Amino acid sequence: DNYAVIMAGGIGSRFWPVSRADFPKQFHDMLGSGQTLIQKTFSRLNKMVPSKNIYILTNNRYLDITLEQLPEITKAQVILEPAMRNTAPCILLSALKIKKQNPNAVMLVAPSDHWIEDELAFAKDVEECFSEAKQKEMLITLGISPTFPNTGYGYIESDKTDRSAIKRVLQFREKPDYETAKKFIAEGNFVWNAGIFIWSVESIVKSFERYLPLMSQLFSEGNSVYNTSEETEFINHNYGSSEDISIDYGIMEKAKNVYVKRASFDWNDLGTWGALYDKLPKENNENAVVRAKTHLINAEGNMISTASEKLVVIDGIDNYIVVDTENVLLLFPKKKEQEIKKLLGEISEAF
Ligand code: GDD
Ligand code: MG
Repeated sequence: DNYAVIMAGGIGSRFWPVSRADFPKQFHDMLGSGQTLIQKTFSRLNKMVPSKNIYILTNNRYLDITLEQLPEITKAQVILEPAMRNTAPCILLSALKIKKQNPNAVMLVAPSDHWIEDELAFAKDVEECFSEAKQKEMLITLGISPTFPNTGYGYIESDKTDRSAIKRVLQFREKPDYETAKKFIAEGNFVWNAGIFIWSVESIVKSFERYLPLMSQLFSEGNSVYNTSEETEFINHNYGSSEDISIDYGIMEKAKNVYVKRASFDWNDLGTWGALYDKLPKENNENAVVRAKTHLINAEGNMISTASEKLVVIDGIDNYIVVDTENVLLLFPKKKEQEIKKLLGEISEAF
């Protein structure tokens, strides 16, 4: 059977003031499409995986929002983390739970906050990976053609001579420095890691045993209680003792059986207001507008987002992030968008 897990535990601080620690970006309709990012992710996956086989991995405090936004799932399908320990521990926990239900299962792991337009192409790529992963002990990831030396991504080198659609990976390097990223791109046979993985539960559990033995031991002790009423107590008691590490550093960089399928769909990691701006259709003078009504004079290249259909009038502001929420109004230069995260640390109030 095919399973899917959606990782939805991040806080999306660069999307402040819309994204808040108590209501992060994956639970917002960032695109103004009528659906939140997690709802879009769920429906994209639900085309290939029955809803009863889709799990959400998130923090304890997002349980209510999750159930409210995804009425298709039950509470048992939300795997709750009492602490933030990055992506490796929550992926292992979900793999162990699924394995207990069905030792032959294959699973897809996906972030909750990406932009993917062509859902058919996405489904086709994933189906192909599912059928490979069912037969072979492979850790498959989807690769994206890189466009610039982004240091926030993982880089994947595949064998140039390999003609198969799903290629053996020679090297996986998570978040290289700028010079290295530049060199990788110039070499030509590197792709970005989309952060969407496909593998059998058996293969991934084995990889954890090998490369993260302490974590593996910690969570394997719960095997007898997973999917029972004692599970929550076990997780709440042990989760915090786990190493804090991502799947990329913990497993993908080390494993020898990593494979990559080049994505045939257009992809964007909606990480910042600028990334959102790039993906949205533009109104006159290259302004991107979410929900607002606008009257724009001498205004170019702005990213404008309001909580409702508020009228926004601008004269003489270019390339700004203009975001209005109930209690915060942000006017910030688009080119300094990376600083929003830092800024948050300075604004110590509950904003
Ligand atoms: N449940 C849960 N718990 N989810 C988490 C946690 C956690 O503790 N931490 C992060 N996540 C979720 C985030 O919400 C996001 O959807 C996903 O896991 C990936 O985490 P990020 O923090 O966004 O990772 P990243 O962007 O630095 O890097 C990853 O994604 C890149 C592509 O967007 C890596 O896989 C890179 O290699 C990749 O290129
Ligand atoms: Mg990310």
